[in-house]
Amino acid sequence: MPRPSRSTARNQKPRSAPERYLTYELEALPGLEAVAEAELREVPQVRGGGPLEGGGVRFQFAGDPARLERLRGAVAVYRVASWDVPRPKALMGHQVLGELTRFLAEVARQGGHTSFRLSAAGRDSDTYQRLAEMLSEGLELPYRPDDGELLVRFRPGALEAGWDVLARTTPRPLSARRWRACNMEGGLNATIAYAMHRLAGQRERDRIFNPMCGSGTLLIERALMGPLDAMVGVDTSPEAIRCAQTNIQAAGRRIEVAQVDALNTGLPDRSFDLTVADLPWGDAIGSHGGNAELYPLFLREMHRLTSLHGRLVVLTHEIRLFEQVLRAQSRWEAQELFQVYSGGHHPKAYLLWK
Ligand SMILES: C[S@@+](CC[C@H](N)C(=O)[O-])C[C@H]1O[C@@H](n2cnc3c(N)ncnc32)[C@H](O)[C@@H]1O
Repeated sequence: MPRPSRSTARNQKPRSAPERYLTYELEALPGLEAVAEAELREVPQVRGGGPLEGGGVRFQFAGDPARLERLRGAVAVYRVASWDVPRPKALMGHQVLGELTRFLAEVARQGGHTSFRLSAAGRDSDTYQRLAEMLSEGLELPYRPDDGELLVRFRPGALEAGWDVLARTTPRPLSARRWRACNMEGGLNATIAYAMHRLAGQRERDRIFNPMCGSGTLLIERALMGPLDAMVGVDTSPEAIRCAQTNIQAAGRRIEVAQVDALNTGLPDRSFDLTVADLPWGDAIGSHGGNAELYPLFLREMHRLTSLHGRLVVLTHEIRLFEQVLRAQSRWEAQELFQVYSGGHHPKAYLLWK
């Protein structure tokens, strides 16, 4: 039998239609777990859980699974089932295989997945190959090892002995936004953009500036988070501006973007209450030498453009350079917000205020 989570067993109430709490796990980029968990706590009918040792946040949820698809700080959400078996081979036993197949079929039916794949240490072993064949038959879904939509992960139990099976609830990760019709080298992971805005705070009266907007990630994520007064993005690259416009249209939003140098906008002093910037990191975009010139000029010009009680949120992978530049100036107070691990990089985000 799949183990009922303890909390489900203990909290069942004698009602005609008891709430059915199912077990889930949320995956966030390393460094953004707290942001993702804070967002999760705002969802009604979520309970229990907490961070797991190896990453991820385990929780129970009794609502419509589609509600979890609206999480913006998570990379992905998985349904979780656990079996008290000593090794994966035992998942192919008649009874357990039936339970596993029913569990995965329910996730696939809710998520509309049209194929599946497995992720496990030793995935290419005979055991997993045989399991894939059996599941393909039971689920009536093709097994596509490289790009199957229903991602099924196998791992030793995170909380108890046995094996956990995690099934991703959506065919694509939540971080792969539907609005991203145009990809750009150096494009920001949308969950990082969400985290930057969440920690900057949302104010309806904010006039927001996104210098160096690239493909528009920070603009679109903010627009999706709620009301604001005004927002504009600029970039010197015409391709970036075209890319941002494509994405903004795909998101169904109206956001002004323009091909303008962020350091020479010609805008009056104190035009913005919040500036959010993903600076060139000096690898895919820009160079270290260029950044050594750009960063001090950027901090000076953003100070001019920021209102008296305004704030500036900056993300960069050039941490040593940025901190050097911060120490050498006296205009801004600064606080580190997070350091995140994403795509082989580990950029830091900072909050600056006057
Ligand atoms: C790291 S990328 C931004 C990526 C963006 N956050 C996204 O999600 O696509 C940095 C961007 O800064 C732009 N840029 C560099 N110097 C600039 C400047 N002085 N003014 C405006 N844009 C600039 C580059 O063209 C590039 O698109």
